[in-house]
Amino acid sequence: MSRVAYVNGRYVRHADARVHVEDRGYQFADGVYEVCEALGGRLVDEARHLDRLERSLRELRIAMPMDRAALRFVLRETLRRNRVREGIVYLQVTRGVARRDHPFPAATRPAVVVTARAHDPAKGAAQARTGVAVVTRSDERWSRPDIKSVSLLPNVLAKQHARESGAAECWFVDRDGLVTEGASTNAWIVTADGAIVTRAADRSILRGVTRTTLLDVAAGLQLRVEERAFTVEEAKAAREAFYSSATTIVMPVVSIDGAAVGDGKPGPVARRLRAAFRDFAAVT
Ligand code: PDD
Repeated sequence: MSRVAYVNGRYVRHADARVHVEDRGYQFADGVYEVCEALGGRLVDEARHLDRLERSLRELRIAMPMDRAALRFVLRETLRRNRVREGIVYLQVTRGVARRDHPFPAATRPAVVVTARAHDPAKGAAQARTGVAVVTRSDERWSRPDIKSVSLLPNVLAKQHARESGAAECWFVDRDGLVTEGASTNAWIVTADGAIVTRAADRSILRGVTRTTLLDVAAGLQLRVEERAFTVEEAKAAREAFYSSATTIVMPVVSIDGAAVGDGKPGPVARRLRAAFRDFAAVT
C-alpha cells in the first residue's frame, strides 16, 4: 500500500504531496508542528499535544486551521489510511500561502499537513536496554524555544553533530553552563541522593508532553522531583541521566561528552519511569 498524506483538506499519495513555493513555512519557517506517538492505532497524550499546538499557534497569532474535533479526525484518518498502528503522526500548521513579504498577510488561510509513519517499538526498547551517548554544545537558538516552531536549524545542526560524534542526542548548554534541553528531547538527571531533576519549563525549553506525563509518573510513584536547571558537570557526576520525547519515551543516557554517567549502564529510575509511562499516559 502506498503512503498517504493529508494536505490542505485532501488525502493524497505521499509521493504527490506538495505545498506551494510561497508557503510561509517554506520561506520564513512561519509555522508550528506536533509529533504524537501512535500506539495500537491510537494516540498517546493527544489532548496535551493539541493544547500545546493551540498555545504555539496563539503565540504566533496563527488561527487554528479547523476545530479540535476535525483535527482529531484528520490525525486518526491519516494513521488509518497509512495503516500505522505503532509509529508517529506529524502535524504541521503554517501561516499559509502568500506573496513573499515579512508582515502577516491579510487574509491567508493556515496551511495544514499531516503525515504518519510506522516504527518498530522493539528498536527503541533495545536502545533503552543499552542506553545512549549524548554530546553537548552551546544553545544558539532564539529565545522562544517554548514555541514548537518549525524553525529547527540549530536543532538540525546539533543532531548532526551528535551523529558525527557517535552519539544519539545533543544537549544544548546555555551561557551559564546550564543544560537547557536536547535537540529534540527534554533532559533529565538523577542526583546522588535520588532526586529526579529536569529544567523548569519556562521560555528556555519546550514543555515536552512526555516530560509533563513523566512528572505525573514520578508523583504517582512517589519519587522526588526538582524542576531546576543543572550544569553539564552535575549531569556527568549524576547517578543517572536520561532524555524524553514522544518518540523515545524515556531514553537512558550512559555517557555525556565521552564521560560515563554512573556505572555506564541504564539506571533503575529511568527504567522504572519508562516501564510505568504507559500506565499514566492517556491513549485515546
Ligand atoms: N521533538 N524538546 C525539543 C526541542 C523537542 O523538539 C521535543 C520534541 C521535545 C520533547 O517533547 P515531547 O515530549 O512533547 O515529544 C523537547 C519531537 C519529537 C520532534 O521534533 O520530532
